[in-house]
Amino acid sequence: MDLDSLEELRANDPGALGVLIAEFPQQVLQGWELAQGWEPRPQDGDVSAVAILGMGGSAIGGDLVNAIVADTCPVPIHVVRDYPLPGFIGQDTLVIASSHSGETEETLSAFEEARSRGARLAAVTTGGSLAEIAHEEDIPLLEFAHPGPPRAAIGFSVSLILGILSRAGLVPDASGDLKRAAALLDRAAVHLREDSSTAENRAKRIARMLYGRIPVIYAAEHLAPAARRWKTQCNEVSKTAAYFEILPEFDHNAIEGTGFPEAAQRDLVLVSLFSASYDERTVRRVRLTEEILSSAGMAVEEVKVEGENRLEEALWSVYLGDYVSLYLAALNGVDPHATPNLDSLKQQMARSD
Ligand code: F6R
Repeated sequence: MDLDSLEELRANDPGALGVLIAEFPQQVLQGWELAQGWEPRPQDGDVSAVAILGMGGSAIGGDLVNAIVADTCPVPIHVVRDYPLPGFIGQDTLVIASSHSGETEETLSAFEEARSRGARLAAVTTGGSLAEIAHEEDIPLLEFAHPGPPRAAIGFSVSLILGILSRAGLVPDASGDLKRAAALLDRAAVHLREDSSTAENRAKRIARMLYGRIPVIYAAEHLAPAARRWKTQCNEVSKTAAYFEILPEFDHNAIEGTGFPEAAQRDLVLVSLFSASYDERTVRRVRLTEEILSSAGMAVEEVKVEGENRLEEALWSVYLGDYVSLYLAALNGVDPHATPNLDSLKQQMARSD
């Protein structure tokens, strides 16, 4: 596979996932615009917690928003990826169900439970049962149009959820920040997209480095969800086994897992998402961690993220990781759009009820 041949890249991507990944900056702005039409119920701002219900590509937007607003949102935000709801969720919780298809059973089940507990509800979806329930029950709904797979709607997911929180008065207006972030992503795209050569394209070079190995992506603070996103995109887009770790917890256990089996040193590659804006103790920790891992014989690649603030750094990291996964899919010779195992499992689960 020649990553510099647009023809070969396109032939490997019949569902045009590359085109959808490129739309990330526009999605961020479109989603925010759409969320401005959101009419918060008078009581929405007066909540003690926010819960975002979702799975996979529809949950990660909640993690990113949580990380981005961690220092401004006055109430805790929890992302729930399961059927049951934690006990704290009740009448004074704002519960946002996020499901691209509107058909994900874990999300629908948790949403039903939140409804029976009298929580304040909101739904973000492209349609399906979730939209139907919202219409029938007069639940506030943000419906967006997106023809691709859920993981390619990450820009919508982030800005729609952020928009709901902002309209509910829980976080400040992010219009200017999102515009600047989208402009940063547009500038980054010139050196990430498919028509830029490997010499200029960091994503293509990282994909080459990951090829044939098992990536373990780690990060701290606001970049933790980006590490998770890299992992899930390597899985779903590139069909590659990949894992993620979060600092500082990493240093209390995973840092010892370097010696056995011997294949670990040959097969694993550690990718460190590094922000110069990390807390100074975290910066020191990241440096020491990299040194220890390298001297233990592990391959470590540091990715210094770009951006002026948490939002920009988190979105930039996601964008880079999404392109890395696209090029890794090309190197692996797999269709980046298709998710046969996931689809088959969902179908079988649907049949078994
Ligand atoms: C597929 C993808 C998945 C889905 C997940 C939940 O592209 O990203 O992780 O997001 O299976 O489905 P939805 O988003 O429809 O609720």
